[in-house]
Amino acid sequence: MKSIVVANWKMNPASYKEAKQLFDATRKAAEKTKNSSVVVAPPAIFLRALSLGYQGKKISFAVQHAHFDTRGARTGELSMPQAKDAKASYVLIGHAERRGMGETDDDVRKKTAAALALKMVPIVCVGEKARAHDGEHFDIVRAQLRTALADVAPAKIGSVIITYEPLWTIGKEAAMSPHEMHQMAIFIRKTVVDLFGEAGHSIKILYGGSVDGKNAAAMLRDGDVRGFLVGRASINAVEFTALLQTIEQIK
Ligand code: PGA
Repeated sequence: MKSIVVANWKMNPASYKEAKQLFDATRKAAEKTKNSSVVVAPPAIFLRALSLGYQGKKISFAVQHAHFDTRGARTGELSMPQAKDAKASYVLIGHAERRGMGETDDDVRKKTAAALALKMVPIVCVGEKARAHDGEHFDIVRAQLRTALADVAPAKIGSVIITYEPLWTIGKEAAMSPHEMHQMAIFIRKTVVDLFGEAGHSIKILYGGSVDGKNAAAMLRDGDVRGFLVGRASINAVEFTALLQTIEQIK
């Protein structure tokens, strides 16, 4: 099974020229891989030019954020039909940084349903802000999942990607341990199966938070994940190439 590697460029780079250079390097690295599907989530303003200029099949596109309403008086917003029209087939939902800007569990629920209605793949991010030692993070993740998936039909659950990306692992020196991720993956799958029955086993789980070429192999081997949501290592062509090469060597 192919790993899914989502390149979340966040608010980078500063110009289209640099975005094109980064994309070209990403494309070259992606074309050499057999074991990964690469999804590039550039700033929305660069999306159309990058996607229309790309003829290959190795890379898919995502938006980092989109509103659940399809149109209307929403200054500054971006709709999913607009994203789809610019060739995004995935949409990031509930990223910890967006939650920090006010995105709620209920927004995540509406966006997940809106993406599926358009046949886009929702990449739903869950995770606690900080970790205490009393297991509270499991309760937080369960509550986030229950609300996020409340409007998903059982037949559609296999189209949803869940990314576990706790805030305390984003932009840090190191990723969390594969062992801890493994426990969380089991918990997420159990929660989804409790909600959807057998169909819940088809859920795809990614890990995000300080992923790079050094920690990805152990996480893929022992963390029970299908792939990664990658921030910093995705905006550095050398690092992203190294990450894809690492994944190539494990299988
Ligand atoms: P990071 O960001 O890889 O720089 O930690 C990950 C993310 O926030 O998607």
